[in-house]
Amino acid sequence: MKKIGVLTSGGDAPGMNAAIRAVVRSACAIGMEVVAFRKGYYGLLTNLFEDMGPRSVSDILHRGGTILQSARCPEFKEPEAVAKAVENAKAMGIEGLVVIGGDGSFRGARDLSLAGLPTVGIPGTIDNDIGCTDYTIGFDTALNTVQEAIDKIRDTCRSHDRCSVVEVMGRDAGYIAVNVGIACGAEAIIIPEKDFDFKRDILSQIKSGIKRGKEQHLIIVAEGVTKDNMSAIKMAERIEEETGIETRATILGHIQRGGNPTVKDRVTASRMGVAAVDLLNQGLGNRIVAIEGDKIVDYDILEGLNMHKNLDNELVGVAEVLSL
Ligand code: ADP
Ligand code: F6P
Repeated sequence: MKKIGVLTSGGDAPGMNAAIRAVVRSACAIGMEVVAFRKGYYGLLTNLFEDMGPRSVSDILHRGGTILQSARCPEFKEPEAVAKAVENAKAMGIEGLVVIGGDGSFRGARDLSLAGLPTVGIPGTIDNDIGCTDYTIGFDTALNTVQEAIDKIRDTCRSHDRCSVVEVMGRDAGYIAVNVGIACGAEAIIIPEKDFDFKRDILSQIKSGIKRGKEQHLIIVAEGVTKDNMSAIKMAERIEEETGIETRATILGHIQRGGNPTVKDRVTASRMGVAAVDLLNQGLGNRIVAIEGDKIVDYDILEGLNMHKNLDNELVGVAEVLSL
């Protein structure tokens, strides 16, 4: 291929810039031209683009967010929109595309490949919820951001002998909650992968903690639980009513998506970016770059989208046994 495109789509994630840089530089290194589309699939539909060269990606490796910006583009689910995007790309001489995003973005990438534009997906989301890969770009940075925030919440919790309920992101998965729950010593970690009962999972945990001499309490709840059950604020109110312990709720929100990527995210994003260009250079599209253990692998997009992974039971067990 002589000319390829790159875009970021869906929720942004720290490390996306490192992936963009790797795509641009590794493509330029083998003589490909690179065009970057702004604002995800919306930019591909409306010709929002710029030509890239090795210097256009200077000084971005360490920055959070995405220099290309990202957008949700609901109309891209329509076949007419996909056909228009392929037409736009072909008119510019673009022969392949790299899409950095989550599983929604990969559905769009699959449609583009089927409509004639070979497209490769790179998994970028703080949720780590893509079935075909052990790791998604942004997860490690988000974990560190959440850990830092919860350490601070713990300081004030200790000063006042309070209970804190902290809601973390993760969409429908509990990867962020379980990992920071262990890292921050939570008394209870409530995740969407397990059924939830307020009395069993929170109240009795706190009450037995009190009997064992605990004076501060930390409950971590994944957003995938609060959206279908009780809000974090309601949980805090009920804890206070039923235990008499002053309780505060903190919803960490989008602070979890920003910030400078960690070494792990920069290195993983760089490796995945190089791998994506390598696939296009071999004439391969309709692939997702993934990581298995520490090895870079790739899957057919449809196969990748149909793969599932489960939260490691060992991690859940560690969290439970250490909450005593
Ligand atoms: P993520 O990629 O982080 O999962 P979304 O689910 O919001 O985020 O998807 C990002 C974008 O991908 C959407 O705004 C839309 O443009 C495109 N997309 C999502 N689902 C589909 C689909 N089923 N078919 C085609 N394109 C899709
Ligand atoms: O997928 C990343 C994520 O931050 C999820 O954890 C969260 O559910 C969602 O995106 C929030 O989306 P938005 O930024 O569109 O509110």
